[in-house]
Amino acid sequence: MPEQKKNKTLLYNIAFLVFCASLLLFLWKAPEETTARLPNDPDHEKFQRMDKKEAEKLCGECHSENGPVPLSAKHPPKYRCLFCHKQNA
Ligand code: HEC
Ligand code: HEC
Repeated sequence: MPEQKKNKTLLYNIAFLVFCASLLLFLWKAPEETTARLPNDPDHEKFQRMDKKEAEKLCGECHSENGPVPLSAKHPPKYRCLFCHKQNA
């Protein structure tokens, strides 16, 4: 390959990588900034350091249709609570 063409290919590859990196960063950051974290209060204290999957089994004790704090009808899909509502610990 002529030298100039090689340089262009390299440039395109770098541009592509930068594009992928920013997309990934955007997707990673977007939900975290707006979604409420796990509250820092006695109800949620024990979940802050617990394994995520273990903790999520217990959220429904309060946050279910018949619990004291049901989720609103417009709540997004609720599989894996702690991926969206981050732990503070
Ligand atoms: C013992 C009952 C109880 C359990 C168990 C519980 N919560 Fe809560 N949660 C509450 C109460 C009460 C509120 C409303 C008052 C408040 O914001 O602390 C609440 C509020 C919230 C909020 C809303 C915060 C906001 O700012 O709007 C989120 C998010 C939340 N809980 C997530 C969770 C997750 C995730 C779990 C499981 C790991 C969980 N909760 C387990 C009682 C509970
Ligand atoms: C896909 C992301 C996502 C997942 C998964 C998720 N939530 Fe939420 N949750 C939200 C958003 C967005 C809101 C809207 C208000 C906000 O920004 O906190 C919300 C709101 C809440 C609220 C406040 C009351 C309400 O309904 O608006 C509670 C309590 C709550 N979530 C608990 C939970 C629990 C418990 C689980 C797991 C069973 C869970 N969430 C899973 C994104 C999520």
